[in-house]
Amino acid sequence: MDSRSLLNKAAVALRQSLKQSHEIASLEAVVLLSHAWKKNKAYIYSHPEISVPTVVEQQFNNLLKRRVRNIPLAYITGQKEFYGLEFKVNEATLIPRPASELFLDKLATIQPRKKTIADIGTGSGALIITSAKLWPDNDFIATDISPRALQTARQNARLHHCGGIGFIKHDLLPPAVNPDIVMANLPYLPPDKMNDPSVQAEPSLALYGGADGLKLYRRLLRQIFSRLHTPSMIMMEAEPDDIPRLRKIAQLYDTENNYRWQIDEDIYGHSRLLTGRRFDR
Ligand SMILES: C[S@@+](CC[C@H](N)C(=O)[O-])C[C@H]1O[C@@H](n2cnc3c(N)ncnc32)[C@H](O)[C@@H]1O
Repeated sequence: MDSRSLLNKAAVALRQSLKQSHEIASLEAVVLLSHAWKKNKAYIYSHPEISVPTVVEQQFNNLLKRRVRNIPLAYITGQKEFYGLEFKVNEATLIPRPASELFLDKLATIQPRKKTIADIGTGSGALIITSAKLWPDNDFIATDISPRALQTARQNARLHHCGGIGFIKHDLLPPAVNPDIVMANLPYLPPDKMNDPSVQAEPSLALYGGADGLKLYRRLLRQIFSRLHTPSMIMMEAEPDDIPRLRKIAQLYDTENNYRWQIDEDIYGHSRLLTGRRFDR
């Protein structure tokens, strides 16, 4: 079959099964064909009349069947773009979200140098690796409780030539680590959001934040504020509805009122990131 007919057929299947718009379905069909054929998208767009080899067509149909079952595109292709870089992802890692690019935008406002930057719950490593690419003149540490996520993060670090990042399997912040900057995109979904079809395929270890969604942040704040050296900057991502509550909790831990706590909106205009900055550093 020629690639145009194959793509049209696939786009119809995607629209019907996933209720996608014509544009999204067509785009996803091209991404799947590009992956199955190992040709870039430009080649596929510019050769609609070319007959697709049978073995590629079979492979494409297999990928399409998985997508129709609502397996995320990133898990099928095994990669996801984040802040202009490609990251390997799999069923052990969260698929990095565009909303989390706020962490990098926020770091860009201070252009960190000679600091220790920690990423707590690193998943695919997207936050810490992007930071290391942009501001290499710092020390980088990332933790996760999932050995498989850490394996993927280390693989991504190698692919992006970021050999200096220390990846540690640990529950939140290890006792010997005293970061200047903390980034934490920890699991923050409450129980009622766990059934949302958009997150069904992702690991619950990366999503579930306890009864009110903020259990892990409470524990992290307790760890941070029990140290002699507290960070100059703490960033935490959460659900838009929970961000004001997270700020109140953070202010309770910041007993000496050393931090200014600010909320930023993501690209969709939703409150998404809470940042605490020490006045004196
Ligand atoms: C929401 S995902 C975020 C992944 C990545 N930071 C990102 O932004 O794409 C949360 C991550 O935290 C990890 N995690 C869950 N509980 C943890 C804990 N107690 N200590 C450290 N990491 C944890 C999960 O395995 C998962 O990789």
